[in-house]
Amino acid sequence: MGKSKVLVVGGTGYIGKRIVKASLAQGHTTYVLQRPEIGLDIDKLQMLLSFKEQGARLVEASFSDHRSLVEAVKEVDVVICTMSGVHFRSHNILLQLKLIEAIKEAGNIKVLLFIVQNSIPCT
Ligand SMILES: NC(=O)c1ccc[n+]([C@@H]2O[C@H](COP(=O)([O-])OP(=O)(O)OC[C@H]3O[C@@H](n4cnc5c(N)ncnc54)[C@H](OP(=O)(O)O)[C@@H]3O)[C@@H](O)[C@H]2O)c1
Repeated sequence: MGKSKVLVVGGTGYIGKRIVKASLAQGHTTYVLQRPEIGLDIDKLQMLLSFKEQGARLVEASFSDHRSLVEAVKEVDVVICTMSGVHFRSHNILLQLKLIEAIKEAGNIKVLLFIVQNSIPCT
């Protein structure tokens, strides 16, 4: 399989950090979205720095700034969204819609993968 340019959204999360590492290990050019909203969260900043040391590229963008999301998405051809449900699922969906709007405007994404919680009851 050819190499891709992959943007991981939610890269410091439980699933996201594993996807960042797997993407780097497979030789993909790996971008990690860095949200200004994380502020001085030391754990997240250290993790982002560690990703950078491992070869990832950090791209700053905010869900509150459509332009910045479009510019981030324009850098890549694959987007993997591992954003958490935060506290309200509707909030997560609204954020995901913002990402989709940015992807539609950028117009260059070949693959979009959302990692979401299984909402189908296992009975
Ligand atoms: N953990 C599991 O075992 C598991 C299993 C099945 C499915 N899932 C699904 O996989 C997805 C990720 O789960 P997770 O456990 O990795 O989540 P997590 O560790 O709680 O968080 C993932 C990331 O979401 C981003 N995020 C949180 N609040 C945000 C906000 N207000 N705006 C924008 N980004 C925000 C943060 O990314 P940054 O700060 O890095 O931007 C955070 O690191 C979820 O949809 C979950 O339902 C998880």
